[in-house]
Amino acid sequence: MTDKAAIILDKVCKYYHRGSETVHAVQNVSLTINNGEYVAIVGHSGSGKTTLLNLMGCLDRPSKGDVSITGNRTANRSEKELTEIRKNSIGFIFQQFFLIPTLTVLQNVQLPALFAKNPQDKKAADYLQMVGLGKRLKHLPSQLSGGEMQRVAIARSLINDPPILLADEPTGNLDSHNAETIMNLFEKLNNQGKTIVVVTHNRDLVKRCSRAVHIEDGNIKEN
Ligand SMILES: Nc1ncnc2c1ncn2[C@@H]1O[C@H](COP(=O)(O)OP(=O)(O)O)[C@@H](O)[C@H]1O
Ligand SMILES: [Mg+2]
Repeated sequence: MTDKAAIILDKVCKYYHRGSETVHAVQNVSLTINNGEYVAIVGHSGSGKTTLLNLMGCLDRPSKGDVSITGNRTANRSEKELTEIRKNSIGFIFQQFFLIPTLTVLQNVQLPALFAKNPQDKKAADYLQMVGLGKRLKHLPSQLSGGEMQRVAIARSLINDPPILLADEPTGNLDSHNAETIMNLFEKLNNQGKTIVVVTHNRDLVKRCSRAVHIEDGNIKEN
């Protein structure tokens, strides 16, 4: 059953070396995210949330243990294979949006599809319509509000139709109204079948998830 889970962390550790000091950012974490779940990751600043999310998204490799994505183990994979897994399975949404300032809204959303050699003008416009930005296609990111920029980032994360969305403090830079819009979008995407893992300090967002995972000093405390 669980071998086809969206994400499995199997005894995962991540150490960072800073000079002579070793930081144990994630310590022996085993965690399964099932298909269709909507999971919040909560914990204090510095507890290892971003590190955990980056490991789940294969943006980073564990120091020990293995990460499986949709049934595929990732230990011992080449960079190219990891990129392929990311492209096919995972959409990322970051607190700082990471939009390219010189590209239009439409081009920003098309970009991951271009990298996948799969440019899809129509789909990008459709996703922008879905997030309520159908009338902003030609705008530059600098002409948008924070909430709008985050919605562009969400549309971009969907363009290759990944089954899994990972979001690191997606409402952290937004006011409560814009945060509410983003939460409604996530709920809609989850109802459409996306598996979502979200790092957040937003209590309203945590309440709307199906499960909260607490992390403290790199350890999972409770589920
Ligand atoms: N690239 C890095 N190099 C060294 N230490 C890091 C690095 N990234 C994170 N850390 C350390 O790992 C711990 C967990 O960081 P992080 O995952 O960013 O926590 P959170 O997202 O919960 O604030 C912190 O002590 C942080 O200082
Ligand atoms: Mg963080």
